[in-house]
Amino acid sequence: DRRTAREALERLIVDVPEWPQPGVVFKDITPVLADHDAFTAVVQALAAPGRDASGAVVVDKVVGMEARGFILAAPVALTLGVGFVPVRKAGKLPRETHSVTYSLEYGEATLELHRDAVEPGERVLLVDDVLATGGTVAATRQLVEASGAECVGVSVLMELGFLDPRSTTADLPVSTLLTL
Ligand code: PRP
Repeated sequence: DRRTAREALERLIVDVPEWPQPGVVFKDITPVLADHDAFTAVVQALAAPGRDASGAVVVDKVVGMEARGFILAAPVALTLGVGFVPVRKAGKLPRETHSVTYSLEYGEATLELHRDAVEPGERVLLVDDVLATGGTVAATRQLVEASGAECVGVSVLMELGFLDPRSTTADLPVSTLLTL
């Protein structure tokens, strides 16, 4: 359940000070992934927003964002019994894509989604490791909506509340296991 998952994250995430640059404390989730029980609990908790109160699966696809989002979104998709779809950084997907460019603190970034990866009317759950400014989630939502599909929510391990991501994710329901 959520509590087991949260406890595992609190116990296993390693703070790495001054990485990748001075003034930043990086949250290393790799010890969580290396622990089978912790990884299982976390994947189950991340998948919960893909079900209704009776346990029925209410999404058609799970979308994960490069790169750490892939590690979490793929097992969430398998748990829910639906397909997994990657959103990638510019130039990585080989076929026709939808593309969204958004601003970062310094500069900009582009994310892409294969045009036929999600179908009109499908319901999509987004999964990523960290919600920081919310820019990645907002851009991914735009990509999903460009395909005529609907984002029903986003599920993340950690939310950096001090960056106020929910001002960017707007009305998209956010499920987070840990708020920092
Ligand atoms: C990180 C993280 C999220 C995103 C969150 O990815 O995994 O995808 O940033 O930030 P935001 O809410 O401010 O958009 P990063 O771009 O570092 O990519 P990586 O997983 O490939 O390292």
